[in-house]
Amino acid sequence: LGNALWGGRFEAGPGAIMEEINASIDVDKALATQDIAGSLAHVAMLAETGIVSHEDAAAITKGLNQIAGEIAAGTFPFSRALEDIHMNIESRLKDIVGDAAGRLHTARSRNDQVATDFKLWVREALDALDEELLDLQRAFVERAEEFADTVMPGFTHLQSAQPITFGHHMMAYVEMLARDRGRIADARRRMNTSPLGAAALAGTAFPIDREMTAKALGFDGPARNSLDAVSARDFALEALAAASICAVNLSRFAEEIVIWCSSPFSFIRLSDAYTTGSSIMPQKKNPDAAELVRAKVGRIVGALNTLLIVMKGVPLTYSKDMQEDKPPLFDALPALSLCARASAGMVRDLTPNTEAMRKLAIKGHTTATDLADWLVREVGLPFRDAHHITGACVLAADKAGKELSDLTAEELAFVDPRITPAALEVLSVDKSVASRTSLGGTAPSRVREEAARWRAALWGD
Ligand code: ARG
Repeated sequence: LGNALWGGRFEAGPGAIMEEINASIDVDKALATQDIAGSLAHVAMLAETGIVSHEDAAAITKGLNQIAGEIAAGTFPFSRALEDIHMNIESRLKDIVGDAAGRLHTARSRNDQVATDFKLWVREALDALDEELLDLQRAFVERAEEFADTVMPGFTHLQSAQPITFGHHMMAYVEMLARDRGRIADARRRMNTSPLGAAALAGTAFPIDREMTAKALGFDGPARNSLDAVSARDFALEALAAASICAVNLSRFAEEIVIWCSSPFSFIRLSDAYTTGSSIMPQKKNPDAAELVRAKVGRIVGALNTLLIVMKGVPLTYSKDMQEDKPPLFDALPALSLCARASAGMVRDLTPNTEAMRKLAIKGHTTATDLADWLVREVGLPFRDAHHITGACVLAADKAGKELSDLTAEELAFVDPRITPAALEVLSVDKSVASRTSLGGTAPSRVREEAARWRAALWGD
């Protein structure tokens, strides 16, 4: 008949469709560990404040620990009829310890309980992500150190622009990831207040100690307003927003992997560990992991959209709408975590084809800016004039079917007699990258400096 936990005023059980739409156990069973941690903290506080006896609290604690064991062992009897993880655990507790179980829910509601559990889950997921992104940063730094001198084409509009180094490119992602980690750390810091003790919405008449439960659960303190404590889901939105931006960043790296692996580019090779073959074309080696990192951003940004739309217009405080908050987080954060691990794997796995990159680095007259800079420096021309003259040199090279760097001193002087043979020097890719020593520039010396700075920051204790 009616639900044993709230069935007092009911005469009949829910209809089958009601049960199907209402039950969240298939999803929120993932909160089992957090629910037990919350209940353990709550019952310890109830005993400490004299709200329940030490005997009952001890029995409840023992029962909860037994349930934790059953869940870990996979023997816990999850029931849909019991709707969610909170009622599943409380009901099982009654089987184990009898009537004392009924005292656990004193001065508590599922509203503050679920908000607490969910925060604990999100917080753990953010902490795990931070570790994984740190590892990814380290992978980029390692490869940057290894390939600080490796010349490759730098692109704008995916057109060859200027020569850069592979190490410099790796280090760009270290910076991006630092901001991603910063956003995740911000979200974690802002969310770390305890809803527990807000009860249904208004607080409770029992002399509870919210500081105690907050501390036991690793929160910085109790959430200060009971209505906000049970209503707030912006912590989940913020986690998804940070995750979405990070996923977008990772998708850009993934796209570069795909481009670099393509046969026409052949800038890098991925080993068998990060590629798959084709069922028909025996020669194929496809960068599927990179493509999936590029694609997973869809579900992560989708999750942010889902929860934004679920929460829009939900009046204070709790409405059942908010039960739909978990699937997006449970899907998106592990997906991002997998993307981070797959990316780190690919960074460590990839082998740069330094010959191919070097060959393409000069193609497309990529050191034209260096010639213009030479005219400014050595001849004293305004940059605009130097730009114009160099443009004429590029045109001459095109007409001769050559690269700018292959023009002879005579051919250059024919365009403008102020270009002396000394100018030829600046046209090589090595000279070009070595000269870009401005702060944040691609010069190998700068790349090494930055890698060393990050090494101290990311490996230091
Ligand atoms: N299963 C619910 C959820 O996940 C638990 C909270 C239920 N609270 C309530 N007032 N019905 O949101």
